[in-house]
Amino acid sequence: MSFNIITAAEAASYVKHGYNVGLGGFTPAGTPKTVTAEIARLAEAEHAAGRPFQIGLFTGASTGDSCDGALTRAGALRYRAPYTTNGDFRKAVNAGLIAYNDIHLSQMAQELRYGFMGKVDVAILEACDVTPCGKIYLTAGVGIAPTVARLADKIIIELNTAYGTAPKGLHDIYEPLDQPLRREVPVYRPSDRIGTPYIQVDPAKIVGVVEVNLPDEARPFTDPDPVTLQIGHNVAQFLISDLKRGVIPSCFLPLQSGVGNVANAVLGALGADPTVPAFEMYTEVIQDSVIDLIRSGRCKFGSTCSLSVSNEGLKSIYDDINFFKDKLVMRPSEISNHPAVARRIGLISMNTALEADIYGNVNSTHVCGTKMMNGIGGSGDFTRNAYISIFSCPSTAKNGMISAIVPMVSHVDHNEHSVKILITEQGIADLRGKSPMERAKTIIENCAHPDYRQMLWDYLHLSAKGHTCHHLRAAFGMHDALMRKGDMRLTDWSEFA
Ligand code: COA
Repeated sequence: MSFNIITAAEAASYVKHGYNVGLGGFTPAGTPKTVTAEIARLAEAEHAAGRPFQIGLFTGASTGDSCDGALTRAGALRYRAPYTTNGDFRKAVNAGLIAYNDIHLSQMAQELRYGFMGKVDVAILEACDVTPCGKIYLTAGVGIAPTVARLADKIIIELNTAYGTAPKGLHDIYEPLDQPLRREVPVYRPSDRIGTPYIQVDPAKIVGVVEVNLPDEARPFTDPDPVTLQIGHNVAQFLISDLKRGVIPSCFLPLQSGVGNVANAVLGALGADPTVPAFEMYTEVIQDSVIDLIRSGRCKFGSTCSLSVSNEGLKSIYDDINFFKDKLVMRPSEISNHPAVARRIGLISMNTALEADIYGNVNSTHVCGTKMMNGIGGSGDFTRNAYISIFSCPSTAKNGMISAIVPMVSHVDHNEHSVKILITEQGIADLRGKSPMERAKTIIENCAHPDYRQMLWDYLHLSAKGHTCHHLRAAFGMHDALMRKGDMRLTDWSEFA
């Protein structure tokens, strides 16, 4: 069978008002880039003609601006799940214009299979090759591609020739059976392969192939600042110390790391320390820093859901594909983030908090408990199941007006039972084996900014005694000062005495 070559606009015309669209890719890596922008144009035309046009969008994680940005600005999104970082989407969600279901990334594919979010009408996948018998070879990201391809009535392929067929062979496609037939996911080491390098679909479902030649909409990095570098150094020092005292096995354990500058700084510091053995990664995104570490032999293997690297970084991998082929694997998000695998292999997870409270509860998503930042992403998949779960963040935000350490987090993503280590540029709070009051002491003394330490002690002195001491009216006193006076440093506990 040969497929219809169609334009992006023709492909978009398969999407009708009320449809649910599922995308392949994970972050802008491997995410379709042209058809979603055409769906946005279609929505604008329909709205101009006085007709409704909105869709539900299912993705692996964040996308590029040609997807979340264009669809949001066109008013084309009714519903979306899961994580995204797009600024226009964030504004629309916080204005109550889009229904956003922020779920753990590992659960996205299975919740679609269970039918929790409705039917998948159309799947759009970026591929580097598709065969007449329906084998789809993906590009730089997988996400929920296998599941939406299987569930959708119609499949549209964006055949991206930007890097030829170089990505072929980097993927390991595997979908677990649903309950009650589910068996263990047989990944015992990060490098284990358990599936196929392609997605197999019924070729009759492929309604068209859109030919594109576009790089990923990779996000630029800012240079790390001294605070970020200090956090990276503290995380690395913590891991080295646990290694030296034998808490972490001497061969080291696989690492998971979130995205961003802190993650880059941590990996840079670990890679540079010759006392740390070469390590493996079992993670959802691989950034440029990991590619450099693989090249230098400091990282032995990377299991990921996407190659969220710069365009130059991606080109350099594909140019050297024979070197990288046995050192990288890209998996669907339900496998790259699988909680049972994380628990089995003894993952060390490293993620970022917006704020943490004195007992170790972490908020990664909601500013002042109400405004969505991005979403929980995969942080919960890893944190709950990690051998050691680490959260880090700067001790203050917005020029010191916000303390990242507060009496009670304004929203809980990761609770005190799962968060084991908290690290800021001020220092390290090891929460393992400690009671709530012991945790409070180490968090205030080691992680809070000096401007806020006494304030946090004063809160504790004000609080009712108990297993976990709190003053329920004052618990959000620092947030209240921020909202009313613009600065947490203006908190006045006498208002609550
Ligand atoms: N209150 C209000 N704003 C805060 C804040 C707080 N307590 N803490 C940080 N911020 C602001 C910062 O000022 C910054 O604002 P800006 O964009 O206007 O400069 C923004 O939040 C981002 O903070 P930053 O310190 O630059 O960290 P980051 O870019 O690493 O992002 C998270 C931090 C938590 C938003 C981000 O890591 C995230 O979305 N995490 C959840 C998902 C996840 O963990 N994914 C990885 C799983 S593998």
